Amino acid sequence: MNALQSYFSTDRGEMIHGDSISVFAEMEEASVDLIMTSPPFALVRKKDYGNQPADAYLDWFRPFAAQFHRVLRDTGSFVIDIGGSWIPGHPTRSLYHFKLLIMLCEEFGFHLAQEFYWWNPSKLPTPAEWVTVRRLRVKDAVNTVWWLSKTPWPKATNRRVLQPYSDSMKYLLKNGYKAMKRPSGHDISANFSKNNGASIPPNLLAIPNTESNGNYQRYCRANSITPHPARYPSELPEFFIRMTTDRGDVVVDPFAGSCVTGEVCERLERNWKCIDLNEEYLLGAIGRFQTESDHQKSSGVQYYRIPRPDLLWNGEPEEPLPEDGGRKRRVRRIGSKSAVTANL
Ligand SMILES: C[S@@+](CC[C@H](N)C(=O)[O-])C[C@H]1O[C@@H](n2cnc3c(N)ncnc32)[C@H](O)[C@@H]1O
Repeated sequence: MNALQSYFSTDRGEMIHGDSISVFAEMEEASVDLIMTSPPFALVRKKDYGNQPADAYLDWFRPFAAQFHRVLRDTGSFVIDIGGSWIPGHPTRSLYHFKLLIMLCEEFGFHLAQEFYWWNPSKLPTPAEWVTVRRLRVKDAVNTVWWLSKTPWPKATNRRVLQPYSDSMKYLLKNGYKAMKRPSGHDISANFSKNNGASIPPNLLAIPNTESNGNYQRYCRANSITPHPARYPSELPEFFIRMTTDRGDVVVDPFAGSCVTGEVCERLERNWKCIDLNEEYLLGAIGRFQTESDHQKSSGVQYYRIPRPDLLWNGEPEEPLPEDGGRKRRVRRIGSKSAVTANL
């Protein structure tokens, strides 16, 4: 059987039912702009889809790493959301996700473009034994997200992921800021009080993972499908898809589960491929791509609506990302649309 055969497709993307290793083996070299994924973590309490133990994790991941590196373009990124794990029977943490990062960089030649931390404020206090029973540890509510790249210059811009100003920044913008040297030695010039419309986000992404009655869940309920037990919130892939790809680029999720990545790509007009071993997850994921008329025909219920793409963002027009990954410094002249460039 052809490993690349679609299970479901739209004009922009497709789901593939199968093992990512075989699917990637058939993909062309240097054909992908972003691999955005959340693999099975090395959890002590295993999920239905199976998890590798921490001590076997690196060996399990190696064949994927080789394929991911091969199919990425030089300008491409590989973003991996990976939660930590506990040492079985001990109130201490495994180092597997840090070892994975080191392996990806030192053995496979990936570059660490930046490390991110996804804080899920709604995470339950687990493991109960250490957190709520003996009260020895605090809740583990942060996943590491490694943003890796094939070269030191993946295409990217933070202009696509700006955030609204904090209340204190709005106050400073309104009431003025006295330019001065901070105790840290940083010179805060008068430029600091210029209103740029929005602020540059930090590498801590605070995103609650609370959706329990969205279109996907309603579709699963209506069709007696068990929802995926470990979905990430759409804001997480959206952040990286916006920052590192252009419209029409190719995004692949090799451990796609319920295809959150595909849904975001569809909305942001990126081409996508979502692969998963478990057919039931893909069956439920189809609900993410139902058009209004499809599901009204089948049930009269609305499962999926495509929101305006710039809904969460400040509407800054999307300039194409620099093909050289920003190697050439582009300086914007205030009050002019043109940009001048200089060699670094
Ligand atoms: C953490 S889940 C991903 C959840 C997904 N991000 C979402 O939001 O729905 C990991 C997924 O990897 C899939 N998986 C594990 N090994 C795989 C393989 N070799 N090829 C394809 N999928 C695999 C599992 O079936 C599981 O659905």
